[in-house]
Amino acid sequence: MKLAALLLLPGLLRSTIAYTTLSDSSLHLLSTPGSDFDINNGKLLAPILRPRVPGTPGSEAVLFHFVDFFAAHLPAWKLTFQNSTSTTPTSGGAQVPFRNLIATRDPPWSSGGGDVGRLALVAHYDSKIEPAGFIGATDSAAPCAMLLHVARSIDAALTAKWAAMETSSQQAAEKWTEDLEDNNQGVQILLLDGEEAFKVWTHTDSLYGARALAEEWDNTYHPALSTYRTSLASIDLFLLLDLLGAAEPSVPSYFKTTHWAYRLMSSVESRLRKAHGIMKTTPRHPFLTEGDKNEMSRWVGGYIEDDHVPFMARGVDVLHLITSPFPHVWHTMMDDGEHLDLNTVSDWAMIVLGFVAEWMDLEGFLGADGEVAGRARKGVRDEL
Ligand SMILES: *[C@@H]1O[C@H](CO)[C@@H](O)[C@H](O)[C@H]1NC(C)=O
Ligand SMILES: [Zn+2]
Repeated sequence: MKLAALLLLPGLLRSTIAYTTLSDSSLHLLSTPGSDFDINNGKLLAPILRPRVPGTPGSEAVLFHFVDFFAAHLPAWKLTFQNSTSTTPTSGGAQVPFRNLIATRDPPWSSGGGDVGRLALVAHYDSKIEPAGFIGATDSAAPCAMLLHVARSIDAALTAKWAAMETSSQQAAEKWTEDLEDNNQGVQILLLDGEEAFKVWTHTDSLYGARALAEEWDNTYHPALSTYRTSLASIDLFLLLDLLGAAEPSVPSYFKTTHWAYRLMSSVESRLRKAHGIMKTTPRHPFLTEGDKNEMSRWVGGYIEDDHVPFMARGVDVLHLITSPFPHVWHTMMDDGEHLDLNTVSDWAMIVLGFVAEWMDLEGFLGADGEVAGRARKGVRDEL
């Protein structure tokens, strides 16, 4: 199913995103995180479960865990840093460094500049300075690990899909060149620093990394006549994960403007729950609690301040995956690996993965052998 009608909805005005629902067999081809989310020796999550206050060795070690992960397993993703410094209420006048890591994968034919729109997947990797030794497993070590899992789980399918599109475009120049242009969609993982306040949350003591990045990208202009004017404008959707990993979560839909995207993800969740053997929890209600909400329903005013704020203030569309209420371990020493519900962490990873795979139009390209799947799909398309 192609949701072309989406183009008429507010919030998705500028691009021709082809959002394709995954078939049941494709849902089963999505890889599960398995033991890589083990809190003691799992490849993805364990290295993040340590204090990582900005400017400390723990922060550096976690940052290099991310860099190593992409370098070792996902060499096609382009890594960039966006660094800034700021004093904080506890730094005694000293400049604290904040380092955002951006991992980007664009179609091979794109210039990587103003011609590609991107789905941005976002979480903060810093941890709160107090209480001393605070781990922040839900806040946001687990969401970071989920994003690493998503990146590695779509990588081969992206390669296969883009290769198939290029091949087809060579065969039937006109139609497929158009198709290439219409599908100039990339994906980007933003691992942000300095989300937490050092003392008390204020507009200046919080969101250090996000504020620096939003400002820089708002002022990074693409060449004249580009489809997207700035790096900030290239973000089709800013999908922010935070405070995920405690059992029985509830995530409402916060913004009318992106409720369409929330509903797409809610549909992914319900299909994953119906598919046998993918999801590990049987919660009392879906994690995404407001899939049925509509214009006429009650919309809570205001929202939770988080890394999306400086982006939303500049007009970026935001889908905020944060639990309400917050996990009961929030900002306490109990927010550690042992208090995570790993089945819930795994299920969140699958929900986000399913949504991203649909957004990136990967139907027909998932599976161990992406190339074969891709050829099968191309065959189908050639018959149309
Ligand atoms: C940003 O910080 C990272 C990590 O410390 C460092 O490797 C990188 O060289 C810095 N980049 C710039 C442009 O200063
Ligand atoms: Zn926090």
